[in-house]
Amino acid sequence: MTTTAPRQLHLNINALNAGVYASAWRWPASDPGGFADLGHYLRIARLAEKAKFDAIFLADTPAIKDRIDLRPINALEPTVVLAAIAASTTHLGLIGTASTSFNEPYNIARRFATLDRISGGRAAWNIVTTGVDEAARNFGQDAIAAHGQRYERAAEFADVVRRLWHSWDDDALVGDKARALLVDPAKLHAVDHHGEYFRVQGALTTPRSPQGHPVLVQAGGSDDGRGLAARHAEAIFTVSQTIEDGVAYAKDVRERATRLGRNGAGIVLLPGLSTVIGDTEAAARQRHEALADLIPPAYGFARLSSVLHRDVSTLDLDAPLPDDLAPPADGHHTAFHSTVGLARRENLTLRQLLRRLGGGIGHRVVIGTPEQVADDIARWFAAGAADGFNLMPDVLADGFEAFTEQVVPLLQRKGIFRREYEHTTLRGHLGLGAPEKP
Ligand SMILES: Cc1cc2nc3c(=O)[nH]c(=O)nc-3n(C[C@H](O)[C@H](O)[C@H](O)COP(=O)(O)O)c2cc1C
Repeated sequence: MTTTAPRQLHLNINALNAGVYASAWRWPASDPGGFADLGHYLRIARLAEKAKFDAIFLADTPAIKDRIDLRPINALEPTVVLAAIAASTTHLGLIGTASTSFNEPYNIARRFATLDRISGGRAAWNIVTTGVDEAARNFGQDAIAAHGQRYERAAEFADVVRRLWHSWDDDALVGDKARALLVDPAKLHAVDHHGEYFRVQGALTTPRSPQGHPVLVQAGGSDDGRGLAARHAEAIFTVSQTIEDGVAYAKDVRERATRLGRNGAGIVLLPGLSTVIGDTEAAARQRHEALADLIPPAYGFARLSSVLHRDVSTLDLDAPLPDDLAPPADGHHTAFHSTVGLARRENLTLRQLLRRLGGGIGHRVVIGTPEQVADDIARWFAAGAADGFNLMPDVLADGFEAFTEQVVPLLQRKGIFRREYEHTTLRGHLGLGAPEKP
């Protein structure tokens, strides 16, 4: 009789520079320069590995798009930092973001295959199309391409990267000194790709890693985004504010993948989750208020205006959001819908919404005791609204320490989170099989 292993919760730490609150760098425990310091990310990685997390995630935008005078940005290139983390950890997964709009497939395939090989099979690539004009202007363009076109390019890009990752058979590296045969050329395959956006000969330079190839991650909830996820993603970062949202998203994207002949049920869904933890609920609320007080209004206005594509600094602070807001044609659809959805669902005024967001883009925020946070996570997990979470603590590393020391033991006691690593690869941690051939 076959027994299926009980579902395991998955946890990533989203090492979002100083923390998800825009004021995290001003928090007493924070080092204002930490966002550009390797030591900061090594400390977070070691905390995550000690707590048996699946992975550390580094976001990226190849541009200064935010008010850098008021808040840190993702200053360091993810794969360089992840390579350093790989050398000082043994099990932690390494998820890095790279844009399909401002890179070439061969470079990205090679960079992540290298990270995967040097880490013993712990790498993952977060596929993003980068929806900000500031990035386009760093790559010889005046503005970002249209939303649909960005995703069309992304689909072909991911296809080529996967084929390059499969251009070495597992046993191509022979190393037979007696026969003077290092690599069996019959086990290397040119991809010979001629497409709409790319022409790539291949094969790749880099032999396979123990996990076959890096895990494919995607984050983008629009119809185009879900199409890309259904075609390529093995794990998906989502923005879900309610259990109903999470369940509906899971159902939709799994069905799309299944219609494409993939195992939709095997895709790992990881909503973003921000946490503010206190010994009592009142203490946690106080911490949230103190962090919100430290956010300069100019920053809150600038951030929300970029999400809503409307200058909110001219609006009535004590009124709800205007009814005539429309999603950005080519920008981030997901951030718009999750933010407006939150404001409407809870009937928030502009002032209340600004404080509630803490300078974020509409990810869910849980404010409470370790028990309340653990119960919330278990509820979403049991409801099938999430297979785990992309955790974004209020302040890094201080808020993350509270999570690893106080919430993780509760999740282990509930029997839903690992006490020890059972695998050495990220695929193993995530319960993913060998990579599918494209
Ligand atoms: C958890 C999470 C992490 C993300 N990380 C990045 C990132 O590192 N870089 C980036 O350009 N976009 C990032 N995004 C934005 C998405 O890639 C995408 O552009 C956005 O969700 C809008 O997609 P849509 O227009 O398909 O809705 C992230 C989104 C989520 C939910």
